[in-house]
Amino acid sequence: MTSGKHHSRRKRVAVLISGRGSNMAALVEAAKAPGFPAEIALVISNVLDAPGLAFAEKNGIETFALSHKAFNSRQEFDERVSKELLNYKIELVCLAGYMRLLSDAFCQEWRGRMINIHPSLLPKYKGLDTHRRVLEAGEKEHGCTVHFVTPALDDGPTILQAKVPVLASDTEISLAARVLVEEHRIYPQALIMVANGQAVLR
Ligand code: GRF
Repeated sequence: MTSGKHHSRRKRVAVLISGRGSNMAALVEAAKAPGFPAEIALVISNVLDAPGLAFAEKNGIETFALSHKAFNSRQEFDERVSKELLNYKIELVCLAGYMRLLSDAFCQEWRGRMINIHPSLLPKYKGLDTHRRVLEAGEKEHGCTVHFVTPALDDGPTILQAKVPVLASDTEISLAARVLVEEHRIYPQALIMVANGQAVLR
């Protein structure tokens, strides 16, 4: 018996982390849904004791941790990561709190197949400490962005964005928490769009 429907194979995804890994966990949980067009097949961390690794292991996901400190150059480290991605037949890469600048070669190799989440309404507030900078600037609105990765930091076409209000009572911690809820919501949605081919980098 066949259903007559064509079910395309789930895309094999690697999530790259450096720390807590709550966005990675959100992707893992979302991918458990039947019909989700991607599976999280591998979690890579450049920090050997990143807390997120334990979550991945508990969920039966392959993990690979290697410190960039053991490499002579950014490019050599990235080449080693890419080799691992190929070993696991990875098709899409999600950066999730991965605190590394990427070599141009790595960006080129994964062009159109690598996405990132950034805690600001890009193109505003690229880089670090976005919540503090947003508060200091007196912004009324903040949020997060999932975008295709291109060689320039926190650049590349937006796939999805979510906005949150900035409240007069906000601290960096309360604002970060409000944004994080939205990160966990839109990252899985953006991954669906890329895995389905609804979002494409031209
Ligand atoms: C998130 O806010 C992400 O957008 C930013 O760093 C944080 C990582 O959190 N780049 P987690 O590791 O996903 O919990």
